[in-house]
Amino acid sequence: MFHWLEKHPFFFAVFLFVTIAFAGLVEIIPGFAQASRPVVGLQPYTILQLAGKNIYLKENCNACHSQLIRPFKSETDRYGHFSISGEFAYDRPFTWGSKRTGPDLARVGNFRTTDWHEAHMKDPQGVVGGSIMPPYPWLFKKKADIETAYAEALTVKLAFKTPYTDAQLPADLEAAKAVALNEAKAIAKDIKDPDVTKAIDGNEIPEIVALIAYLNSRK
Ligand code: HEC
Repeated sequence: MFHWLEKHPFFFAVFLFVTIAFAGLVEIIPGFAQASRPVVGLQPYTILQLAGKNIYLKENCNACHSQLIRPFKSETDRYGHFSISGEFAYDRPFTWGSKRTGPDLARVGNFRTTDWHEAHMKDPQGVVGGSIMPPYPWLFKKKADIETAYAEALTVKLAFKTPYTDAQLPADLEAAKAVALNEAKAIAKDIKDPDVTKAIDGNEIPEIVALIAYLNSRK
């Protein structure tokens, strides 16, 4: 058979391709299976965090920020443990990014606080001299889209079996909004902006609160 193949270059090329493709699959497929396994203790995003993640994507924060710490000493010294695939098991879509104009945010929840984010989002230069990050004043005025986040959480629960409990993800929208509002109120205690306080007192959730809930969850 090999003699025959050697005399037929086209079939030889096909044979070679199939052999290498098979070897490649044997290496790659177990990796995919591993990647979809969550790390121990990983929690799905709460509805509020999911709304915040959507704001992060909408504002295109990932154009300047990655969320993927590489296994190099210079990175682990600065950001903490390098990222592992199982940490992203509930990320749909993931927010790894590919550009670092600003620092990596994969574990920003370990070293920045709610009040720090409040000041920084309003006026980055006022907090970090010479910062080239733009300010985001509208996040303090606009209301977070909890309905879409709720629909998204329900969808991943149904489609991908993301393990939400009934308390985290109630069966009706009004109850879900109450869960998100409770979480938002706890965060808003550390926010001084009068617009935010007023909105929260009126049972509305400004975008900044959802975004900070998301940033605080990055650990
Ligand atoms: C034009 C690029 C750019 C965009 C867009 C941008 N940032 Fe930044 N960001 C930076 C730079 C540069 C820094 C470092 C200086 C500083 O802290 O302000 C930074 C710092 C940060 C930090 C502090 C991180 C740390 O470890 O100190 C956070 C948090 C952050 N950005 C969040 C965001 C969020 C959330 C958005 C989207 C709403 C965003 N950034 C959009 C460039 C950007």
